[in-house]
Amino acid sequence: MKRVLFVCLGNICRSPAAEGIFQSLVAKRGLENSIGVDSAGTSSYHIGEPADKRMRQAAELRGIELLSRSRMVSPRDLSQFDLIIAMDRNNYRELEALAEGSSGKVRLLSEYLDENWPRDVPDPYYGGEEGFSKVLDMLEAACPRILDEICPESPPTA
Ligand code: 4NP
Repeated sequence: MKRVLFVCLGNICRSPAAEGIFQSLVAKRGLENSIGVDSAGTSSYHIGEPADKRMRQAAELRGIELLSRSRMVSPRDLSQFDLIIAMDRNNYRELEALAEGSSGKVRLLSEYLDENWPRDVPDPYYGGEEGFSKVLDMLEAACPRILDEICPESPPTA
């Protein structure tokens, strides 16, 4: 089993959405027994909370149900997961600090996209509805590429 962890600041907006989108691709490709997915936050702000209602609603419109509860990323995650995807450069730095710079497993989500996308998945927390939809667009563009990388033998999604 290969394991992918998505990480943002609060683990209530961006990374739970990434987890939900990625999980739905895994299910579409019938890979539930070979790919594991989870999400976590670099902060303790929202531990135990469900995903933000605005993000749950935006995801629901695309047929994605978000069921995760916020948890904080731990050093153990760096050994347990095969690939760790940071939503923005702050998250990336936090993860590299946790790994003491030696994990080799941490990637920035935008590494899977071309330069027409922003480097950072924009934090939608303090903004309007359209911010949540933009985040989902970016995650839906990147997730198939992440899955192709970790599971190259699976057929690409149409
Ligand atoms: P996330 O969004 O990192 O995508 O879950 C945020 C959620 C909460 C806060 C910031 C960003 N906050 O400051 O509480």
